Amino acid sequence: MPLVSMRQLLDEAAKGGYGVGAFNVNDMEQIQAIMMAAKETKSPVIVQASRGARKFAEDLYLFRLIQAAAELNPEIPIAMHQDHGNSFETCASAIELGYTSVMMDGSLKEDGKTPATFEENVEITRRVVDYAHERGVTVEGEIGVLGGVEDGHGAGGSGLEHITDPDQAVEFAERTGVDALAIAIGTSHGAYKFTKKPDGSVLKMDVLIKIHKMLPNTHLVMHGSSSVPKELQDIINQYGGRLKPTWGVPVEEIQLGIRNGVRKINVDTDNRLAITGAIRKVFAESPDKFDPRDYLKPAREAMAKVVAERMKQFGQAGHAGDYQPIPIEAIARGYKDGTLSTKPQVASR
Ligand code: 13P
Repeated sequence: MPLVSMRQLLDEAAKGGYGVGAFNVNDMEQIQAIMMAAKETKSPVIVQASRGARKFAEDLYLFRLIQAAAELNPEIPIAMHQDHGNSFETCASAIELGYTSVMMDGSLKEDGKTPATFEENVEITRRVVDYAHERGVTVEGEIGVLGGVEDGHGAGGSGLEHITDPDQAVEFAERTGVDALAIAIGTSHGAYKFTKKPDGSVLKMDVLIKIHKMLPNTHLVMHGSSSVPKELQDIINQYGGRLKPTWGVPVEEIQLGIRNGVRKINVDTDNRLAITGAIRKVFAESPDKFDPRDYLKPAREAMAKVVAERMKQFGQAGHAGDYQPIPIEAIARGYKDGTLSTKPQVASR
């Protein structure tokens, strides 16, 4: 199956009332782990690469690996997404390669660190939407600013500094025509999100629910959604790691989000933890081993297990065969003739 439009994947998820995990990749083993999980659970999936991943793996290596995944798994709809594009050029180069979706993170300036103004965000996102939609490519925008730093991208902080203003979210969706909207509700990238199990004082599910009420048909995106399970932290620490106690986003909060318009859930850290724990275990238990396959295979399996679990928890499991992929050219025509709407339905302010 060719790579699928993320818009189609999210529209289908909205119809079915489920969420779709978007898993970050940097190398072959991570892509294989995702495909193992998608195959096992019969899930459509979003694979995403940050700018850092594209640089690490070199664009063409990574993209050819995704194409191989699509060719080897024709029954799985896969959208290939640029995570946190920092500029028009980053998004355009992903589209040129064949990515079917891009995030223009205009919440930050091009340096990927300094919060941008609302008007700057609208302007750059609108420009990417015009360019991408002409080519049938999906666009995710961000309003509000997430906490933490991932791959050098991020404003830092706890995530509470720039919580999304629901009125701005509506205006942003109306003026940009984005297909999916990432909002800031107190989550942050990385392992250190919360110092205890999060409650409403640090994880603003009420803001998310309010935005969903105002924009009932807009696909919402939750970034920084790793759950940072204690079991994965423990494996790392048991085998010589030094993670400080930390809490992520509980799966039940994500499920509450899914009941309130969340269609894309970004997960990277949980997979990083699973891989690192598995490798540390082999190194600690079998210091005589030196064939990379001896530790990359368990690492790949550990990640596949986490991804499969999330796919079931997000509800995407079992939905791979629900629909036929629409060719990207037809998606482009849909944007042009208005059958694929880019005008959000606004319920009330
Ligand atoms: P985590 O660090 O919580 O996995 O978040 C990843 C993410 O949001 C990528 O954009």
